[in-house]
Amino acid sequence: MTTQTDKNLTTIAISKGRVFEESLPLLSTMGISVAGEDLEGRKLVLSTSQPGVRLLVVRSRDVPTYVQYGVAELGIVGKDVLMEFTGGGIYEPIDLGIAKCRLMVAATEPQLQHSRRLRVATKYVRSTQQHFAAKGLQVELIKLYGSMELAPVLGLADCIVDLVATGNTLKANGLTPVEHIADISCRLIVNKAAMKIKSATLRRLIEQFKLAAKE
Ligand code: PRP
Repeated sequence: MTTQTDKNLTTIAISKGRVFEESLPLLSTMGISVAGEDLEGRKLVLSTSQPGVRLLVVRSRDVPTYVQYGVAELGIVGKDVLMEFTGGGIYEPIDLGIAKCRLMVAATEPQLQHSRRLRVATKYVRSTQQHFAAKGLQVELIKLYGSMELAPVLGLADCIVDLVATGNTLKANGLTPVEHIADISCRLIVNKAAMKIKSATLRRLIEQFKLAAKE
């Protein structure tokens, strides 16, 4: 039985979904693979083919928190999540170049239309505030947790701020991209304290990540 304090154990926090799917080939080139039944099951701690390396399956927004507190030494997480993260104690050494998309403002019309203070629906509160503040606009933020495309269509908001990959979700819901906020991709994050305590192991893994990301 391995424990959290095991000096020879490295834990990588990651979220299920696109990030997970696109990380698997990258991890595989590093010699880290997960047994098929574990990929399909409900386990949240997954052992890997590399002795001493395990994956922790958490919500994407929780990945930086697990790494900040050192429960996981490493994490794989989208830049969109890191832009919302206000904690500390982490390095972000590598752009893994996977799960690429864009954080965008989208609306029903190609130009933002509003007769009063702009209402923006999003789960990206911090990035949205910063984007509109930089344009000198004060906006009313409506925090949603998903299906944001509905908000402008049903009159809840004038526009949304959300991730756009293929653009199919916007199109299917009668929305069009209006403003680009940021290019997004997955980053490797590292707990700063662990970098000192487990320096050799983590440096080796970070180098492997760098090489795998280049392939
Ligand atoms: C994201 C995003 C959009 C969609 C965009 O949702 O919120 O809804 O992907 O992708 P597209 O441009 O290729 O259509 P995701 O499926 O990640 O789930 P979420 O709604 O829980 O964020």
